[in-house]
Amino acid sequence: MVSKKNYTRLAIVLALVSLGLGMQQVYAHKEPHALDQLAAFEQVFMEQVRVGDLLFHGDGDTQKNLNVNLSRTGMACAMCHPFASDTHPHEFPKFQEQMSQFATLRDMINWCIEKPNEGERIDPDGPAMKALEAYIYWSNRNSKLDPGRH
Ligand code: HEC
Repeated sequence: MVSKKNYTRLAIVLALVSLGLGMQQVYAHKEPHALDQLAAFEQVFMEQVRVGDLLFHGDGDTQKNLNVNLSRTGMACAMCHPFASDTHPHEFPKFQEQMSQFATLRDMINWCIEKPNEGERIDPDGPAMKALEAYIYWSNRNSKLDPGRH
């Protein structure tokens, strides 16, 4: 038979265990960011968007600075994709018909540089790719994530 005393002990043990579990909870972001930190992050992001915008519009100086050649046809990305239209960053990764393979947005950016633009493919982790990606995502920022879609 369980005595009243034992019930009390059990209750205390359970309370301690749940307290312990609660304390072990892990948070991705422990501290909320201060406003000036957020402003600094936003500034870094928008600077990348600005560089990407210049590259997307075929700016020669920016390409020279980053040592890339995005086109030999004289066509800039924006001539076929005004305001980054039809770049669909939210649909990646997906099976890409033009490449007959499963592709990331970066794969597709390089496909456009090499095929329609006849330029030189860029380092997928390099600064030009990061900037182009920033501009394309920013231009499509209200799209709903829908990976794999066509
Ligand atoms: C001469 C026209 C032309 C130019 C210039 C061009 N593209 Fe494209 N782009 C296309 C075509 C055609 C497709 C494939 C059809 C499609 O998916 O819309 C495409 C597709 C894309 C896609 C994938 C869209 C999707 O949903 O699959 C991305 C991303 C993209 N281009 C980025 C770029 C970037 C970045 C540049 C500049 C470096 C660029 N394009 C320059 C014609 C062009």
